[in-house]
Amino acid sequence: MSNDLPMSNATAIEQQILAEIAAAATAEGLETVRVAALGKKGSVSALLATLGKLSPEERKTQGALINAVKERVTSALTDRRAVLGEAALLARLAAETADVTLPVRGAAINAGRLHPISQVTDEITAIFADMGFSVAEGPDIETDFLNFTALNFPPGHPAREMHDTFFFQPGPDGTRKLLRTHTSPVQVRTMLAGKPPIRVICPGRTYRCDSDQTHTPMFHQVEGLVIDDRANLANLKWVLQEFCKAFFEVDDVTMRFRPSFFPFTEPSMEVDIQCSRKNGEIRFGQGTDWLEILGCGMVHPNVLRHSGIDPDIYQGFAWGMGIDRIAMLKYGMPDLRAFFDADVRWLDHYGFRPLDLPSLLGGLTG
Ligand code: DAH
Repeated sequence: MSNDLPMSNATAIEQQILAEIAAAATAEGLETVRVAALGKKGSVSALLATLGKLSPEERKTQGALINAVKERVTSALTDRRAVLGEAALLARLAAETADVTLPVRGAAINAGRLHPISQVTDEITAIFADMGFSVAEGPDIETDFLNFTALNFPPGHPAREMHDTFFFQPGPDGTRKLLRTHTSPVQVRTMLAGKPPIRVICPGRTYRCDSDQTHTPMFHQVEGLVIDDRANLANLKWVLQEFCKAFFEVDDVTMRFRPSFFPFTEPSMEVDIQCSRKNGEIRFGQGTDWLEILGCGMVHPNVLRHSGIDPDIYQGFAWGMGIDRIAMLKYGMPDLRAFFDADVRWLDHYGFRPLDLPSLLGGLTG
């Protein structure tokens, strides 16, 4: 074996590797070059493996030469790695520049808003929970029986026409389901499911075919029901008075109970609260105007019978109130339709911070 053959071979290999190192554009590319040169099956390792076949003197000279190649390759790799690392860092810094003139984004907790309906429902629930009421719910799609018949609207009764009802197509048995026109069917559901004493409020969505500044086809009501063996009109008045004071956050409210008619109560009343209207602003606990806020009465014995409760033993009172309406009154929102427009500017203005939970102790509106 000639002396200069492996050497010229080594020089060629070194040139080739150094060129590849110089050409490597990424850390991964450089690693591939390293493995191809210095790895177990790499070209420099192959050169070193040839030493075993040489005579001791040749091995001495060739060994020194090949090791020198290995060192130069190693140091070229190190230098190139440093250059590529620096370039990668600069590229990353350029890509990650922050525009410090951008406005600071608020925390998510400050950005979200609770809809006034949710807030007012929570306020109502907090007030009645404090008086020992629990919350009952029922479905939006209701049977004709629970929405009307059990509430003492017999079939064909003209009072059914008071409600512009959305009916579904009749089922196989000929009965039509409907979108509940009020939350009163939850009274019946609650009485059928439990035994007196009963103290519940039933907030929820209700539906009537109606739309103008103060009516939307879907709206919200809260029903109240108290059944035991002595609940009377005086208790009803007290409960409603306490509610109004707490809800409107005033020390006193003057209320007016007007005789009215609902098939499911006897006697029935509508309740107005006294207020003043100055410059379009409504204030409660003062003034000479009256605002109707709810309907109420003593639960009709027929309703108790339909609900499996003996009217000779038990009696009670109920009321129904429009949540949207009292929300508009309390927070001065003039158009009900805006409640359902999903306009974030409106929600930003009229909405509530999600963690300002209404409580009687902490103040209802935070
Ligand atoms: N259900 C009535 C309505 O939608 C409201 C109502 C009035 C509910 C009197 C009651 C009540 O429980 O006693 O107009």
